[in-house]
Amino acid sequence: MTGLFITIEGPDGAGKSSLVQKLIPAIESMIDCPLVVTREPGGSEIAEEIREILLNPAHTAMDPRTEALLLAASRRQHVVEKILPALSRGEIVLCDRFVDSSVAYQGQARGIGMEKVLSINEFAIEGLTPDITLYLDVEAEVGLERIKDKNSNRTQDRLEMEAITFHEEVRNAYQMMIEKEPERFVVIDAAKSQDSVFDAAKKALESAIQDFKKNE
Ligand code: TYD
Repeated sequence: MTGLFITIEGPDGAGKSSLVQKLIPAIESMIDCPLVVTREPGGSEIAEEIREILLNPAHTAMDPRTEALLLAASRRQHVVEKILPALSRGEIVLCDRFVDSSVAYQGQARGIGMEKVLSINEFAIEGLTPDITLYLDVEAEVGLERIKDKNSNRTQDRLEMEAITFHEEVRNAYQMMIEKEPERFVVIDAAKSQDSVFDAAKKALESAIQDFKKNE
């Protein structure tokens, strides 16, 4: 028996974290199996330690390929320790960011190349693909403004500190991925109110979970 693998993607400041918090009780009310909520980079003890290295604002010397490899390494550990065991128990996994983030941020925005980054990730995930990906779409400028407001009390992480052109490239990359795999992505306009983003996400997941239950 296999579970259902849901991922949430989007540029910085799209509102993924708040959406995840609102989706947890909504999803739990639709299912009678456990829901595993997790995130990348991180999601397991070793992977969270790699996250600290990745996001440390002091690590300005980090090479783009080192960054991509560390992300893939943390993902590997997360997949093996947490995601695959939950899916093989038939559970639902909700993951904040996955391979698409690496393809967008490291592949396109860092300029390594989307295909190259995808291939190192294939080594890490061995064919695991999300069943459905909610993509929260927001213009780079709007996302970055939101982060500035949110971060008035905390320092920005190393990736959030990148220039606006970097974040525009991230969004362009997501648009390319959506064109390639329109059946996997549900595009949600994240410039709209939190309520309307939540309603759209919930509707998409209701139908995915219904199909999942039918096939159980
Ligand atoms: P995240 O914790 O999702 O931050 P936020 O909630 O602010 O979006 O991700 C931290 C940063 O790491 C974010 O700027 C995106 C970046 N990132 C990558 O560059 N590549 C990846 O593969 C992942 C998972 C994240």
